[in-house]
Amino acid sequence: MGRSRTGSGLAEDLLIELDRDAGVPLHRQIETSIRAGIRAGRLRAGASLPPSRTLAAGLGVSRGVVVEAYQQLVAEGYLASRSGGYTQVAASMPPVAAGAGPATPAAHGPGFRVDFGYGRTDVSQFPRAAWLRSVRAVLTATPNDRFAYLDGRGVPELHTALCDYLNRVRGTSAAPGHVVVCGGYGQGIALLIQVLVQHGARRIALEDPSSNDDALVLARAAGLEVVGVPVGPDGVEVGALHRADADAVVLTPSHQWPTGGVLSAPARAEVIRWAKRRGALVIEDDYDAEYRYDRSPVGAMQGLAPDHVVYCGTASKTLAPGLRLGWLVVPARLVGDVAAAKVLADRGSPVIDQLTFADFLARGEFDRHLRRMRPVYRRRRDALLDALRTQLPELRPAGIAAGQHVVAWLPPGLDEAEVVAAAARRGLGIHGVGPYRITGAGPGGLIFGYAILSEAAIAEGVALLASAVREVRGR
Ligand SMILES: Cc1ncc(COP(=O)(O)O)c(C=O)c1O
Repeated sequence: MGRSRTGSGLAEDLLIELDRDAGVPLHRQIETSIRAGIRAGRLRAGASLPPSRTLAAGLGVSRGVVVEAYQQLVAEGYLASRSGGYTQVAASMPPVAAGAGPATPAAHGPGFRVDFGYGRTDVSQFPRAAWLRSVRAVLTATPNDRFAYLDGRGVPELHTALCDYLNRVRGTSAAPGHVVVCGGYGQGIALLIQVLVQHGARRIALEDPSSNDDALVLARAAGLEVVGVPVGPDGVEVGALHRADADAVVLTPSHQWPTGGVLSAPARAEVIRWAKRRGALVIEDDYDAEYRYDRSPVGAMQGLAPDHVVYCGTASKTLAPGLRLGWLVVPARLVGDVAAAKVLADRGSPVIDQLTFADFLARGEFDRHLRRMRPVYRRRRDALLDALRTQLPELRPAGIAAGQHVVAWLPPGLDEAEVVAAAARRGLGIHGVGPYRITGAGPGGLIFGYAILSEAAIAEGVALLASAVREVRGR
């Protein structure tokens, strides 16, 4: 049936140029060239690509390199595998937003020229080919009975793979029997609050400022009294925690959200002493820990006191929030209750996703993905800091060593809400710290989410902000 060939099947026909000194893996260079050819219309829908062996010979690379590139582009929807073992350009182009293309993610949120909205990870970099390999392995090899109902904690393979990863990389002291897989941190904190209430808790301490759309709302809805504990440059102020008279505290010790402070070793030890003395629970939200740029890793608090700390992890920042994959490492005395709450909530997280993630972790793909993404985010962070330094030197960036956002404190006299409003009038989306304060006043600050912005968009955004600040100053 009239397969239109691209020519002799040599690399020149596809305009693939490999730069072996570029530091970019060869399969990615091949992907980029083919993707560009399809987007530019040079490679038309239905055109056949050369067999992987032929292209590999033409390029002087191993066949596996070409196979990996083809698989990635099939996963993205640019190419299609046909029976008979040949590969064609797909009949229709995938939507741009779904492409894992070169690092030019959307710079513009709805209604904004540039949007520094936080909490967004660069999902265009989702490792589709590697994930697909794990899905395929799971669907091929997993016996039928593993797809039946399970207990609420999730699949044993993922418990083991997570413990191996967390104990190695995050310094936890996690045993497979203490892991509960959940639908992201959002569900994890909901289950924990439910169990705290069952156990008679009345007050919960939250960092002030902190995120206002999970623990705060859930705790109040469950009838708990919420106490805000002020956050300083190095995370929560432990002295204030002592005065809070709380049954539990939620902390982001590795990169406080939103101020970016890192809780010091003495402060961690003091929090643990507090928890032991009161019989209180520390809920450690470790969501931002995998992206560290300048400082040496800081281990999780859970490793210091596994009987007093619940460790909460999520794939939302490292892979994609749409996966809805999270995990709790729970003290022995609470595991049964948290698992029971999970069964009540949804009868357990999807098994195929869990097995896939277990396979992905066990193959080392998660480590590989993080190694690949760290320099990408670091470049964007550096672009932000450079732009702030040159265009807005009066702002004081903080928490820059980790994560996917930076806070910059405003000088006294510059009103946060006025700056945010003036920025919005210029098409710049940015959040102030103020709305995340529980107990009220504090210095003005702006939260810059940079993870999905190109370096050019970051520079444009800071220029818009500088213009907004000039307007507010000039009043
Ligand atoms: C403080 C904090 N922790 C954790 C998360 C991750 O939540 P989830 O795992 O439910 O996507 C977020 C999301 O932005 C967050 O702001």
